[in-house]
Amino acid sequence: MSLIFRTRKLIKPEDLNGRNTLFGGRLMSWIDEECAIYCACQMQTHHIVTKYISEMNFMAPAKQGDIIEIGVGTVVIGRTSLTLCCVVRDKDTKDELIRVDKLVFVAVNEAGKPTRHALADKATEVAA
Ligand SMILES: CC(C)(COP(=O)(O)OP(=O)(O)OC[C@H]1O[C@@H](n2cnc3c(N)ncnc32)[C@H](O)[C@@H]1OP(=O)(O)O)[C@@H](O)C(=O)NCCC(=O)NCCS
Repeated sequence: MSLIFRTRKLIKPEDLNGRNTLFGGRLMSWIDEECAIYCACQMQTHHIVTKYISEMNFMAPAKQGDIIEIGVGTVVIGRTSLTLCCVVRDKDTKDELIRVDKLVFVAVNEAGKPTRHALADKATEVAA
């Protein structure tokens, strides 16, 4: 599956933990935001919510001044949902900081209930 790396982030002082490496919660927030934007574009609605995020295995730290890039790809197109995977890597070395195999986003209506999205007719599992 091909990942699209659209977003880059410069690690700044406010992004660090007590060890002066990238704070995991900040990275999780960036991943959630990037995937939500990706889904909003694909599903053609801004009314989406994060439903499920699989295991997050932080493999390597990043430090202040590093530039990272966030890649997202579609795993499954559902009727009301989109399942993505996400990789964050160092822009220069391409070393992976984290890989998340499954993030599920659901399109919701005004009542917050799942609703069909623009890709629903193409519901299928995307080849690995
Ligand atoms: C998202 C929410 C509306 C879904 O409600 P629900 O009753 O579970 O909905 P459904 O069972 O009809 O499932 C909706 C879709 O999600 C998928 N889904 C539900 N639970 C899932 C899970 N644990 N893992 C993977 N997919 C899941 C279903 O397969 C379905 O996909 P499809 O229609 O494309 O086949 C509801 O759980 C909710 O409001 N959760 C809170 C969301 C939130 O606040 N997120 C954080 C802030 S954005």
